Amino acid sequence: MLKKLVIGAALALTPVAGLAAGGEQHIESYDFSFKGAFGTYDPNQLQRGLQIYTEVCSACHGLKFVPLRSLSDAGGPALSPDQVTAYAAENYTVYDAELDEDVPAKPVDHFPANTNAGAPDLSLMAKARKGGPDYIASLLNGYTGEEKEEAGSTYYENTAFPGGWISMAPPLEDEHVEFIDGHDNSLDNLSQDVSAYLMWTAEPKMMARKQVGFVGVLMLTILSVLLYLTNKRIWAPIKGRKNS
Ligand code: HEC
Repeated sequence: MLKKLVIGAALALTPVAGLAAGGEQHIESYDFSFKGAFGTYDPNQLQRGLQIYTEVCSACHGLKFVPLRSLSDAGGPALSPDQVTAYAAENYTVYDAELDEDVPAKPVDHFPANTNAGAPDLSLMAKARKGGPDYIASLLNGYTGEEKEEAGSTYYENTAFPGGWISMAPPLEDEHVEFIDGHDNSLDNLSQDVSAYLMWTAEPKMMARKQVGFVGVLMLTILSVLLYLTNKRIWAPIKGRKNS
């Protein structure tokens, strides 16, 4: 365990040093707003993540399990229904069998699937990979700049990817996406924003789940106190007799 920690720390200090295939995986722990028992999604961060996905990742990755209309659900990126309608129509098309042509997407449609580049669908990726959003952000941040050719394909060295070499070219860099409010767009921030967004697509009801859990614990606590007091009261006459 200690040895693992030491190796991890060494990697963090020297991310550019060549990482041999099978090298120790490095996953950073980020300070996401939704971590912890009371953590919640930050709608502004989810909106930035949506923009990054739309402008960059959607070229290769689909989000086929995510309905466009959920962008206006409570606890999500908090777009207005009108904004969702505009976003869907501006960015995506769906095939209409009756008209036999592609028409602008509507809020009832899902984000399209995308298999062009052989890239995996990202809808549930944040739940599928160990480390979740920490892993995705570490992956986007983890390129060393080294690349190699193997059997006609290019692989890029990455300190977070298991095995150390990934076939996805670095999709983000500093200032790759511009935000309308001028928000910080360093590589580190962009990576975290899009990872937060992918956590939301994978678990859109996280906030409701945490709330239900909290109310459940609260009710069990009250019930325990009541039971304790009732128990005390029921036994009081008998215990009292013994002592006298
Ligand atoms: C040019 C195409 C392309 C773009 C753009 C792209 N990706 Fe990828 N991505 C791929 C391919 C191909 C793979 C499969 C890589 C592999 O398994 O070696 C992949 C894999 C992944 C994985 C899975 C890694 C794993 O553990 O299996 C994640 C997460 C990911 N991409 C996130 C993103 C995000 C977030 C963006 C946008 C910022 C993005 N990608 C942009 C092509 C792309």
